[in-house]
Parts: sequence; structure tokens; C-alpha cells
Amino acid sequence: MARILITSALPYINGIKHLGNLVGSQLPADLYARYCRARGHEVMFICATDEHGTPAELAAAKAGEAVDAYCARMHAVQTDLARGFALSFDHYGRSSSARNHALTQHLAAKLGEAGLIEEVAEKQVYSHTDGRFLPDRYIEGTCPNCGYERARGDQCENCTKQLDPTDLINPRSAISGATDLEVRETRHLYLRQSKLRDTLDQWIDSQQGWPVLTTSIAKKWLHDGDGLQDRGITRDLDWGVPVQFEGAPWQGMEGKVFYVWFDAPIEYIAATAEWADAQGLDDSAWRRWWRRDEGAEDVRYVQFMGKDNVPFHTLSFPATLIGSAEPWKMVDYIKSFNYLNYDGGQFSTSLGRGVFMDQALSILPSDYWRWWLLSHAPENSDSEFTWENFQSSVNKDLADVLGNLVSRVTKFCRSKFGETVPTGGTTGAREDQLIADLTTRLRAYETHMEAMEIRKSAGELRALWVLGNEYLQEAAPWSSFKSDPDLAAAQIRLALNLIRFYAVVSQPFIPEASARIMADMQSDNWSWPADVAAALDTLKPGHAFTVPEVLFAKITDEQRAEWEARFAGQR
Ligand code: MF3
Ligand code: ZN
Repeated sequence: MARILITSALPYINGIKHLGNLVGSQLPADLYARYCRARGHEVMFICATDEHGTPAELAAAKAGEAVDAYCARMHAVQTDLARGFALSFDHYGRSSSARNHALTQHLAAKLGEAGLIEEVAEKQVYSHTDGRFLPDRYIEGTCPNCGYERARGDQCENCTKQLDPTDLINPRSAISGATDLEVRETRHLYLRQSKLRDTLDQWIDSQQGWPVLTTSIAKKWLHDGDGLQDRGITRDLDWGVPVQFEGAPWQGMEGKVFYVWFDAPIEYIAATAEWADAQGLDDSAWRRWWRRDEGAEDVRYVQFMGKDNVPFHTLSFPATLIGSAEPWKMVDYIKSFNYLNYDGGQFSTSLGRGVFMDQALSILPSDYWRWWLLSHAPENSDSEFTWENFQSSVNKDLADVLGNLVSRVTKFCRSKFGETVPTGGTTGAREDQLIADLTTRLRAYETHMEAMEIRKSAGELRALWVLGNEYLQEAAPWSSFKSDPDLAAAQIRLALNLIRFYAVVSQPFIPEASARIMADMQSDNWSWPADVAAALDTLKPGHAFTVPEVLFAKITDEQRAEWEARFAGQR
């Protein structure tokens, strides 16, 4: 048994996330967390809302609410949606928590002691029309690196380059669209991460088997030009962690806050402390996950995120932790994702294009979405959601293959033997073959799940379901029943056990359907079927079960057409 710390990139508080956001971090992280728990590991799975900075301020202003009230409300909304998608966080925290304020200020103090913080007179964009400075997302323009025209002041979404507002070509205010901008001087704290360049380079080189997508982005920003340039970690904003050092003000920094990307990853740690607080545990309970001197030495730490987040997790956040000179647990593996596109274009929060988490749950149960999204995760390249593809995956994989097997077996048993596992008969060579095939596929499934190869895992799971269908087709208990009812009894006994086996192995992908199947099998034996033959002998003759309601309803052509039209335009 191992101890596995899993974090998902923190969703911004500004509004409900779309399915592209979901599949880029929270959902695959949940898959992995569920799998690790199913294998008996001790798991700490952490997420939180990312509440500071310009995204929150802009969204609150748009909603006409005070920013703190807006964040509290949206945190509750996002918590509900996370529950709706069965995301099994041990804690869903808030980056605006007291824990994060304290830890952010503590780490800044440590970086200061290590000589890694410097006060810099910096050029900031001031908007006359708006009467204020325009940090980060308050400003938009053309990316100097790739020419994308809607780059934001903090990062280009298109090429992932981290930017400063003054880098943008043809800048304009994101609040008013104003272009009467002026560059003015203001003082800010800079993190001298360039001093850590060699350390970070060696740290990245020492990581084993990171995905190419992760290391290539990290190396690109480390070596191409100015990737590890010193960066401002404070902002002229009201909402955020005040620039203070363990309670004491920092001279000249009054009224400023830390940059959202400085405090957000620190919330991974702070949220674990929030978890301990919520459980009524003391500090050692969270520190054993995060402090190498207090037990975290043998934790395996895995992060999940979209590719635009990689520079912050391979360079900036590690610079904070290493630079503090304290023994913080560093990430062991970064699983990063490309983008999911929507029906010939991009999902877009600003344009309201695509399907958002609340809308998805309003039309279909979460497992339908989980299955499609995970089995089409944008791992090696961008992938695309189309309604046609969604309909066909749900109808074939879930309804025709898994759902159909469960329904046929249970209904046949009820009509011939009653609603209990039948007695009598022995299985033969065909069943031995099934067990051998299931074993081979299960081992492959385990290997891919451990490696976080999500599409390949989904493929093996589907193959496990298909093996059961093929077996039923060939064994055909409905015909063997006529000549040899004992044989049919043995076959159906095996098939009922196979249904429980499917509940266990499918649970990381489709937890709600799996729970229903398990309940209908009147079992709560979730133990991993490491030994397939033994697992298929779990429900003994005489064990009662219930014929399930329809597990997965097929998506009709009419529904597809209606949803296609409904989600084509603006939210
Ligand atoms: N909110 C950011 C995004 O959606 C991710 C923050 S991840 C963390 O892109 F490292 F800051 F926590
Ligand atoms: Zn760019």
C-alpha cells in the first residue's frame, strides 16, 4: 500500500466550467484517485476554487456583486457540480481561505530570507478611461510570440507563453475596450526565479518518464529566451492575499496583494490543511502529506492539468517551494492534457460556446459524460466533442455492451431460476477461456491505469465488457437451458458474478452506474478482482439480487438534434 497525493488544477471561480475544463484536470484526477483507492492505496485528493486575481474581480463586477460574496456563492455552485459529476475530492477548498493567506505569506517570507525577492520599479499599464492600472487579464492584445489576437496580459492561451501586460501588441482594456493607455511606474516584488534556473533544470532532468507534453513545455520556457525571467509576484488589486510577511507589513507594499498565480498552487497545500481542520485533526495530519521531514518522503505526488498550466507547475511553483529552502514535497508526476474542442471550434467560456457542467447534468446523468470524456481524453493531441460521436459511444459502449449484458443476464435468471444466484452445474472449457481472457485484459487495464494512460484504460475496460458479451453470445444459456438446465445455471451464476466484477472495475469511470449495479447485486464487496477466477465465485448459490432498472437509456436521434441546436449558439 502506497500513499498517493493527487491534485487537480484549481478551477477559476469565475463561472461554471465547460466540459473541456473538466476533462483537462478534475475528471482524470478523479479517475486516478478512484483507481488508487480501489487498489487499496491511501489517497489524498485535493482540489479548490482559484478565487483571486483579475478573473474573479472581472466576473464579480459583471455580476454586480461584491467579490467576496460572488466567490462564496460560486464556490457553493462549483461544489454542487463537482458532487454532480461524482468527483471524489477529499477536500474542495478555497484559495481565499485563512490557511492559504497564512501559508502564502509564510512562503514569501522564506523566499525573502533566501534573498529571492527583490523590489522592482516596474512599468504598468494605466488606463485613463478606467482610472486604474490594468494588471493581467484587465488587458488584452496581440501575443508578441505567436500573433494570437486575444492574448491576455498574463498569458497567451494559444501558445502558453507567460506574458506581462506591457508585452502585448495593440493593447486594450478588458473592462472598457479603451486604448488610451499609458505606461506608468509602480513598485512590485519580484521573485528572482532566474537564480534557480540550473536547480530547476536539474530537477526536471531527474524526473523519470514524465509525459512529453509536460517536459517539452517546461524545457521550452526554461531554455528558449526568457522563460525563467524574474517575475512580479504582487499586484495593484484589492482582492487577494495582502502583501504582508507573517502578519508584519512589508514597507511600501501597502494596499497590494500577491499575484494569483503565486498563491493558487500554494492552495494545494493549504487546502490539505483546510481538510485537516474540517476533520478536527491537528497539523501533523496534513503535514505528513507535504513535509518531507514529517513523513511525506514516501508520498507519491501526482498533478493533473491542462497544457496552459504546465509552465506554472514545472517552473514557478517549484521555484517557490525549492526557493523557500524548506523540505516541501515536490511533485513526482505531472499529467497534462491538450484541449478538447467543441463541434468544429473551441469551447469558450467568454463566448459561452459548448456544453457547461450544469447544462450537461441537466440533460443526462454524469456517467454518460464521464465515459465519453474520459474515453476521448485529449492526451496525445487535441480532441473534439461532436454530438454524433457522443451518441454513438453512449449507445454502443454503455447501452449495447454493458447495459445490455446486465439486463439480459438478470432478466433471464429471474424468469428461469428466480431472483437468486442459481445452484448446480459446473462450468467448462469455455468459461476457463473467458477467465483467461479477462485476466489478460484486466492486467492490461491495471497497467494503463497505473500509467494514467486514460484512453488506453478506457479501451481495455470496453474490451472487458465485450468479452462478457461474446461469452454470453456463445454460451447462450437461453438455449442450453432447454437441454441442460444445470449447465445454464452454472453459466448464469458466472454471468451474475461477472456483473459484480464489472461494477468493481468500471467504478473509476462510471461510479454511479457501478454503485447501482452493486446495490442490485445486493453486495458491497468492492474488493479488486486481482484473481479473476476467485472474483467470479464471489456471489454464491442462493444469493439474492434485483433486476436493475434500465442502466443506460439510448440517446435518440431526436434528442441529439435538439441538443445540437440548443448548444450551438451562445449560452
Ligand atoms: N485556475 C487556473 C486555470 O484554470 C489553474 C490554477 S492551478 C494552480 O488555469 F496551480 F494554481 F492551483
Ligand atoms: Zn501566443
